[in-house]
Amino acid sequence: MNMTQLAAIGPKLRHEFKIVYYLYKTDVPFGAYAAYVRTRLRKLIHYREFTRARSAAAARLNQLGSFTTDWFSAHTFEWNRVFARKQWRDRPVAALEIGSWEGRSSAYLLDTLPQASLLAVDTWEGSDEHADTGMATGIEARFDANTRAFASRLKKYKGRSFSFFATQTLPSASFDFIYIDASHYADDVLCDALKAFPLLKPGGVMIFDDYLWQWYPEPRHNPAAAVNAFLRLKRGEYRLLAAGDQMIVEKR
Ligand SMILES: C[S@@+](CC[C@H](N)C(=O)[O-])C[C@H]1O[C@@H](n2cnc3c(N)ncnc32)[C@H](O)[C@@H]1O
Repeated sequence: MNMTQLAAIGPKLRHEFKIVYYLYKTDVPFGAYAAYVRTRLRKLIHYREFTRARSAAAARLNQLGSFTTDWFSAHTFEWNRVFARKQWRDRPVAALEIGSWEGRSSAYLLDTLPQASLLAVDTWEGSDEHADTGMATGIEARFDANTRAFASRLKKYKGRSFSFFATQTLPSASFDFIYIDASHYADDVLCDALKAFPLLKPGGVMIFDDYLWQWYPEPRHNPAAAVNAFLRLKRGEYRLLAAGDQMIVEKR
């Protein structure tokens, strides 16, 4: 190890310590913290595979459409592990996405899983963090264009997730896969999680985005507080497949 590598360890350790403290402040269950450590180690050990998955996803999606943001490609290493574990590449998969933006995660799912169908729920108006940035302008039109190749396997619900859950009569255990990536305000994340979980089939997978994201100054307003509360409420009903920037839960 040379001096530059040695000097880089200090800030990395500080960063890790801050995450541990943040998880503690958001009431992380011990099992979720253990999953965080396992996921972190997996990323370190398979770093080449992680970067390959990220670049391949970014390149493929740029062929499929036109995107102004990429909050997604870094997650494909863990998503691909889930798809392989569940052998979803050659099976029909019913998916629900709460929060689709301009369709990057939606297009990845529909492109990677050729037999999947997706119900995408979004206001297409943006979230708190996009207010006054102009970023949300034209997102629905971009979503439509970016997912056009998959139109036969895609349905949209335009509106708030609360109204989706309140008005759509879906039988319980309707979905194999649920992605929660809409409002990141903790109360909203918790409501989405509690309403979505009964819709997930046993053995199905639910992913929460931005588990470690800290946009609201008060830790208990951020997604980790909601996800940790959800994990405590549903203890025994799931297995944790990964915990990092995303929390990945498999229903028992
Ligand atoms: C972070 S973006 C989703 C990103 C997308 N999954 C991706 O990977 O590219 C969050 C989306 O949630 C939507 N949203 C925010 N609050 C919502 C709510 N209460 N109900 C439905 N959608 C909401 C926003 O309009 C925005 O498109």
